[in-house]
Amino acid sequence: MEKRSVERLVTLEEFIIQAQNRFPGATGELSQLLRDIGLAAKIISREVNKAGITNILGDQGEENIHGESVKKLDVFADHQLISALKRSLITCMVISEENEGIVQLRSHGGKYIVYLDPLDGSSNIDVNVSIGSIFSVYMREPRYDSKVNESDALQPGKRQVAAGYVLYGSSTTLAYTTGLGVSLFTLDPSIGEFILCNRNVQIPEKGTIYSINEGSYNSWEEGLKRYIKYCQEEDPESNRPYSARYIGSMVADIHRTLIKGGIFIYPHSKRYPEGKLRLMYECNPLSFIIEQAGGRASNGEVRIMDIYPDAIHQRTPIYIGSPENVTRVLDFLKEFKEEEFLMS
Ligand code: AHG
Ligand code: MN
Ligand code: MN
Repeated sequence: MEKRSVERLVTLEEFIIQAQNRFPGATGELSQLLRDIGLAAKIISREVNKAGITNILGDQGEENIHGESVKKLDVFADHQLISALKRSLITCMVISEENEGIVQLRSHGGKYIVYLDPLDGSSNIDVNVSIGSIFSVYMREPRYDSKVNESDALQPGKRQVAAGYVLYGSSTTLAYTTGLGVSLFTLDPSIGEFILCNRNVQIPEKGTIYSINEGSYNSWEEGLKRYIKYCQEEDPESNRPYSARYIGSMVADIHRTLIKGGIFIYPHSKRYPEGKLRLMYECNPLSFIIEQAGGRASNGEVRIMDIYPDAIHQRTPIYIGSPENVTRVLDFLKEFKEEEFLMS
């Protein structure tokens, strides 16, 4: 009789425990934190999936600290993630897009600092287009004075100990890294578990998709305009013209870039002189994921994760994706900056 092999499914919980067991002496606290985020993600996913029928679509009727209108789901996701992190007493403070100051979870103790974009892609909530959640984790620097303050959270992205995102798309996908590659999980709603689908995702070395809000073309710097024209030029040998794809939810655009390769750009412009996206809870965590998968992320001049932050909500331009594509756009930016300098 033919022997059928039974596929062994690995859940997020099991995977985290296996990973922890490989490090004798690990306290298991980071594992607990990742499990807490996994639980909040399931609750948010459930709410996103039934959003149209439960009166959770639409505006909360307030603006957040960045002057953007807050959606009910933004607030729901923020509360779920913060209360999940509060349960296990290992996080001393949370910094979230939805809160102006730090959210202190413990007055003393608590080893980790967590940054959150609880709901990314808010403008897509009401139209049933993919949205996400992003997290980024740092260790608190040990100090004699055990009180936490904002300056403890101002660390460069290269000091992240874990980061990841959850994408609420046609399925719910969770990606995370602790600096040992990127693991991907898909939520099986019938059993309520995240199931491992790839334990070492690699981004293609080069891709044929560019992703940018082209409506702002007129306010870009010359090097960027030339690069986008280069992407659109006909050259069958290098598979050009490339395809344009722009979802408007960074998590979804980055997830596609991770799987299919290519480049995602949010540059500085006249409207957003510092760029629009936030360094600490959008750009750093997604750069950590992309770099761990073999990609590259820059602000146009330096590596995103080398930037020393001055403020918890600071913005940055970003050029992120397959290494070849990012290197090429940086060459264009440099070339045209030099040209402008010589002509001035
Ligand atoms: P958020 O919903 O968390 O405020 O983030 C929205 C961000 C990001 O997800 C996306 O890439 C970008 O805004 C889209 O901005 P534009 O509409 O200016 O292209
Ligand atoms: Mn966002
Ligand atoms: Mn958001």
